[in-house]
Amino acid sequence: HYREIKAADKRMHPFAEQKAWEDHQVNKAIMRFGSKDRKSKSEYELIFDNQIEFVQDELVHGENYKEDPSNELPEKSGARSTFEKLQNDRKTLPVYPYRDELLQAVEKHQVLVVVGETGSGKTTQIPQYLHEAGYTKHGKIGCTQPRRVAAMSVAARVSQEMGVKLGHEVGYAIRFEDCTSEKTVIKYMTDGMLLREFLGEPDLSSYSVVIVDEAHERTVCTDVLFGLVKDIARFRPDLKLIISSATLDAVRFSDYFDNAPIFKVPGRRFPVEIHYTKAPEADYLDAAIVTVLHIHVTESPGDGDILVFLTGQEEIESAEEILKQRTKSLGTRMPELIICPIYANLPTELQAKIFEPTPEGARKVVLATNIAETSLTIDGIKYVIDTGFVKIKSYNPRTGIESLLVTPISKASANQRAGRSGRTGPGKCFRLYTFHSYSNEMEDNTVPEIQRTNLANVVLSLKSLGISDVSGFDFMDPPAQECLIQALKLLYALGALNKKGELTKVGRKMAEFPLDPMLSKMIIASDKYKCSDEILSIAAMLSTGSLIFYRPKKKLLYADNARKLFYAGNVGDHVALVNVYRSWKENDYSHQWCYENYVQVKSMKRARDIRDQLEGLLERVEIELTSNPGDLEAIQKAITSGYFPNSARLQKTGSYKTFKYGQTAHIHPSSGLAFSFPKLVVYHELVLTSKEYMRQVTELKPEWLVEIAPHYYRLKDVKDSEAKKKRPCGEGLGI
Ligand code: CDP
Ligand code: MG
Repeated sequence: HYREIKAADKRMHPFAEQKAWEDHQVNKAIMRFGSKDRKSKSEYELIFDNQIEFVQDELVHGENYKEDPSNELPEKSGARSTFEKLQNDRKTLPVYPYRDELLQAVEKHQVLVVVGETGSGKTTQIPQYLHEAGYTKHGKIGCTQPRRVAAMSVAARVSQEMGVKLGHEVGYAIRFEDCTSEKTVIKYMTDGMLLREFLGEPDLSSYSVVIVDEAHERTVCTDVLFGLVKDIARFRPDLKLIISSATLDAVRFSDYFDNAPIFKVPGRRFPVEIHYTKAPEADYLDAAIVTVLHIHVTESPGDGDILVFLTGQEEIESAEEILKQRTKSLGTRMPELIICPIYANLPTELQAKIFEPTPEGARKVVLATNIAETSLTIDGIKYVIDTGFVKIKSYNPRTGIESLLVTPISKASANQRAGRSGRTGPGKCFRLYTFHSYSNEMEDNTVPEIQRTNLANVVLSLKSLGISDVSGFDFMDPPAQECLIQALKLLYALGALNKKGELTKVGRKMAEFPLDPMLSKMIIASDKYKCSDEILSIAAMLSTGSLIFYRPKKKLLYADNARKLFYAGNVGDHVALVNVYRSWKENDYSHQWCYENYVQVKSMKRARDIRDQLEGLLERVEIELTSNPGDLEAIQKAITSGYFPNSARLQKTGSYKTFKYGQTAHIHPSSGLAFSFPKLVVYHELVLTSKEYMRQVTELKPEWLVEIAPHYYRLKDVKDSEAKKKRPCGEGLGI
């Protein structure tokens, strides 16, 4: 069978022959975790010494850990109800033997750092233990997650375990989706949501416990939360604070939280064999697919499932397609390969699929983004394929480009990924990179997001929380001063801050919206131009986080023709979004209409949800819903009011140059303006993929820039035929 795959591939795969793996003893390492059956070091090339030492030496509960709880699993019996089964499963989790000790520690200390292997039960169990111990009598337990999918799926799991309906006692809140009620006592939410709750409830008085979970992920919101919860803990002695992490940073967290004690939950890990490729892989996606198929045909299916780490939705979708084709060509002799994608924007109903047990005789392959590294635990994984890449955000304050770049992972990430294969039995990890690049090229840890992102949003939130000196904020790892200054300048230019750096009335209104400051400003400005209805549709469509138009490969021409119809007047992509939304609404939000027009139903539904919520917020900022569908100029001006810093001018070469940074950029080929080359445009975002691309672009007139942002643009500059020099925009604003 393998020969068949190879033939299909017309190339030799690095793992083609078992012998090649054997030969590569040097490139082979075996991690052993846990204290049982530890083989002597000399038997293996132990490359993960540090990690082993960590697990070995720092297990404070090591001696107490007598029995292997998995032995307790009673015989499966059809008669037992799901509820009982879940209760039994709970008792098999590594955290369970430490339940009482943990509760005592929480009782004794206000702040506790909890560290434990992914899958040990921190996220699902600790809130339940606290609930059972009475912590919800006088307040809620809030548990933050860096990812939406994790917040939703964990809440669903816990509600099952507690035998309650999701949204009642146990609920979740993510941006634009609140699944909680009066009854809710355990609330899972994204870290960004808790940050927003601070705006309405600065002391979080409705909470008795706050758990900042997955702290090791170090998202911007988590980092800001650290500073805020540390502060409120000082004047709310009744509030319990738990910082929970899956990795080794415990000491840093403890240091930051005034030497808070560390509670370690020993993991249960089995040995993991690590294989590296001999030479760097030119095409990691292809290598990953071949490796999946190789495992599938050479290892018996009942043996275990496969987890592949890829970088994003598109890549996962194409891997899924290729795998489907190739397994089909292998014929029916092969056991079934169930393909389960998982990424942040995967519709909720499909997410559950990855947790379903694999039927006998079949094998599951989970194609995941980094989300499966620590946020989600999927049982039954025995093989991990690690491409060695992750898509992360990076921001360059000098060019203003925020890019999602496919970047090599850190060593810490690589080890987390490998560990995912050794949860239920010995595992194997195939690293699609060389040992040399692991040891010499990978960073030890991933840089915290706060040091590689645009901070305008964070700064606006902090300012609206009354924190005037943002650079003096107690960050665990402070962001670069340059980034803070850029954020302050942008907020000043948008009118959210005054010259002294204080929040203005406009800024206060902007902070009401859970959106990027430029989007919020666009909405605020739409009041002036009497087109808030249209602008809300744009804001909602831009916030869905997924594609609006559907372009099936076989029907590209039809799809593109259908799309052109929305570009009437052809001023740009924003107006096209309004047109899409309006037509959909006029057709009673019909699915059929979406299919006929090659528009994604799911994105539209989400846009409608978001739009409803934004409309609800209009009242709070005293803006009336006004509409003037015929007046495109009004819409363009409202967009420009939020996005004037993102303007770019056509060059003789056919490319564009941004006003602010003199950065060369191109209109993204997916834009309706890609081939019409308007002289001057505003763009929603500038992303770096194969080139610097502007996405969601609208044409504008130079005079508007001066009319709307006279503090930012001078007529003689915008009228110049070409941007000759970098305009020092926003310089000398006295902030
Ligand atoms: O937070 P931590 O990584 O320590 O573990 P957890 O998320 O509490 O997961 C504990 C166990 O719950 C996992 O091993 C899964 O078996 C199960 N779980 C699940 O089945 N479905 C979920 N959505 C989440 C967890
Ligand atoms: Mg967790």
